[in-house]
Amino acid sequence: MKKQIVTTSRSLTEETEDKLNEQIDMEGKSSAYYLSMASWCETMGYSNAAQFLYRHAEEERQHMLKIFGYVNDAGGHALQPEITGIRHKFDSLREVFELILEHEVEVTKSINTIVDHCFQIKDFTTFNFLQWFVTEQREEETLARRAVELFVIIGEEGVGLWTIDQEIGNLDSFATGTGPNTTGAI
Ligand code: FEO
Repeated sequence: MKKQIVTTSRSLTEETEDKLNEQIDMEGKSSAYYLSMASWCETMGYSNAAQFLYRHAEEERQHMLKIFGYVNDAGGHALQPEITGIRHKFDSLREVFELILEHEVEVTKSINTIVDHCFQIKDFTTFNFLQWFVTEQREEETLARRAVELFVIIGEEGVGLWTIDQEIGNLDSFATGTGPNTTGAI
């Protein structure tokens, strides 16, 4: 039988490990939430929004796994989150993206809380690890905000929703500055 690896000494505190596991939970739930939204969009014919959300569901899973790796490498134990109570139906495409923006702001707050905690207890290793997430959250919020703005700029009347769905397909490159902004499409 394989022996459990026991870490006798480590700099990661139990409190920080718990906070990182809470973040794992949040990223895992984000992934499930976006996957559910992707499926709803697909059934409603918003195929570009669906593809955007399928990609983002996968990205959130990668965020979760990034923290998994860090916690276990640091001598802790990353915990697979329980995923329950995921919403399957939405009132409109606009609601989906408003919920995403709201959710991403909450994720940013959560990351900032852990970063602040690490700074307070002088855990600069975890503080440094989390900087990637700080940058990522700025991009994620920009994307979600831009998506919500599309509903205001384009409007939902006539071919508006169809056009918004097309533009959502271009959003990923928008956050990195290589998209519509630089090509002149928007
Ligand atoms: Fe990984 Fe969108 O938060």
